[in-house]
Amino acid sequence: MKLTIFGTGYVGLVTGACLAEVGHTVVCMDVDQGKIDKLKAGVIPIWEPGLQPIVERNVAEGRLRFTTDVEEAVKHAEVQFIAVGTPPDEDGSADLQYVLAVAESIARHMPRYRVVVNKSTVPVGTADKVQAKIEQILAERGEAIPFDVVSNPEFLKEGAAVGDFLKPDRIIIGTRSAKAQERMRELYEPFNRNHDRTQFMDVRSAELTKYAANAMLATKISFMNELANMAELLGADIEEVRKGIGADPRIGYHFIYPGCGYGGSCFPKDVQALGRSADQIGYDAPLLKAVEAVNNRQKTTLFTKLARHFGGAEALRGKTIAVWGLAFKPNTDDMREAPSRTLIEALWEAGAKVRAYDPVAMDETRRIYGERLDLALCGNKYSALEGADALAICTEWQQFRAPDFEEMQALLRAKLIIDGRNLYNPDRLTDDGWHYYSIGRSQPQTSSPKEPNESMPKPEALGC
Ligand SMILES: NC(=O)c1ccc[n+]([C@@H]2O[C@H](COP(=O)([O-])OP(=O)(O)OC[C@H]3O[C@@H](n4cnc5c(N)ncnc54)[C@H](O)[C@@H]3O)[C@@H](O)[C@H]2O)c1
Repeated sequence: MKLTIFGTGYVGLVTGACLAEVGHTVVCMDVDQGKIDKLKAGVIPIWEPGLQPIVERNVAEGRLRFTTDVEEAVKHAEVQFIAVGTPPDEDGSADLQYVLAVAESIARHMPRYRVVVNKSTVPVGTADKVQAKIEQILAERGEAIPFDVVSNPEFLKEGAAVGDFLKPDRIIIGTRSAKAQERMRELYEPFNRNHDRTQFMDVRSAELTKYAANAMLATKISFMNELANMAELLGADIEEVRKGIGADPRIGYHFIYPGCGYGGSCFPKDVQALGRSADQIGYDAPLLKAVEAVNNRQKTTLFTKLARHFGGAEALRGKTIAVWGLAFKPNTDDMREAPSRTLIEALWEAGAKVRAYDPVAMDETRRIYGERLDLALCGNKYSALEGADALAICTEWQQFRAPDFEEMQALLRAKLIIDGRNLYNPDRLTDDGWHYYSIGRSQPQTSSPKEPNESMPKPEALGC
């Protein structure tokens, strides 16, 4: 089939590449000329494992091409996907301006029947708005061209997006149109060889399914973080509790890791947008508000633990903190709403300096923060530690799981780790003389900080 995808971000590019990979002929359209230029030159603008070879192969074999030409994109295919951003509006509700702009473009140029498939995460009722926009533009054109609007939310996870797309748990398709159902079934046929993963439903239920999934996952995380904070105060170990409850098949082990809060481009904005939807229909949704509030507080926990260790936020002035992990989770360079940003910005606010390292998000960090005297972007995890007064861990990259503690000790000015991902064994580190703070487990008795390692040069003297 011929397919068009509007938006070549994480979702649009993965969708376009994977649909080409199974044999469709795909045009990816984006308004960002720079992004399209890069893609035409063979440069993938995002870091997503496994994506590069798929894009290269399908471009070379003529099944995938990139354009900024709206007319070409609309004329190319009967099925038009919308995969543009839906960032939070000022009040937290989803900003639909990009989705509606694409709807308008499609309506201006469609020569005959089109299936308009919305893949962006959008509030219930958006398909009606897309429908109305297309009808309005067609009326302006004086045309009565038939079309269907379908909701087909995307469930891929950044960092595992290619695998998720090629082997989906489920394919949710919201439409009551038999013609649109037939087209959608045909285009997803290659993903259903083993068993049919498609679930057809009405448009509104499909739109709500996406928010329900993200809100459920965010709720699990906030619930565990709430319990972790209580465990610290009660003298319990949340990791033992996690295994204890995970053994119950009704609960399961997935997604119950305590940590320094969820981030990314989806959970924070989607929980917020669902909350605003509740407000708009006059429904009080205290659980959703609590999930968001618990997460916002949890994202400050690393700073709070650091400040407490040093005897107050004022004591952080002039200190240097190494930060491992900047992306909101491993295997991505996405830093939207990342807990690392909450920590780093609070450290700057307190007058501290940051030495940061992430395996893939260094360019993104540079793009977000630019050159600053209080930020050193370091070439590897050990150089980030040179002369730092403490290490804070924000992202559970594999390479942080079993570091050389002796080398770390030699580089840091004090044996102090604030771990937002519970990577290490607290007993072992404590026995080795580390001050090791983690989430929901026994914390060191806060005492005056250990004597710094005076043989270390001051960090100002060190470049990265
Ligand atoms: N990132 C994820 O993991 C993920 C997963 C599932 C669903 N989603 C949802 O998918 C949607 C897209 O997310 P994303 O992370 O890919 O966003 P993104 O910001 O990475 O990409 C959006 C792209 O759309 C482009 N765009 C904006 N207006 C356009 C227009 N009029 N025509 C063509 N292109 C246009 C932008 O230039 C950008 O390249 C969002 O609604 C998001 O919530 C994201």
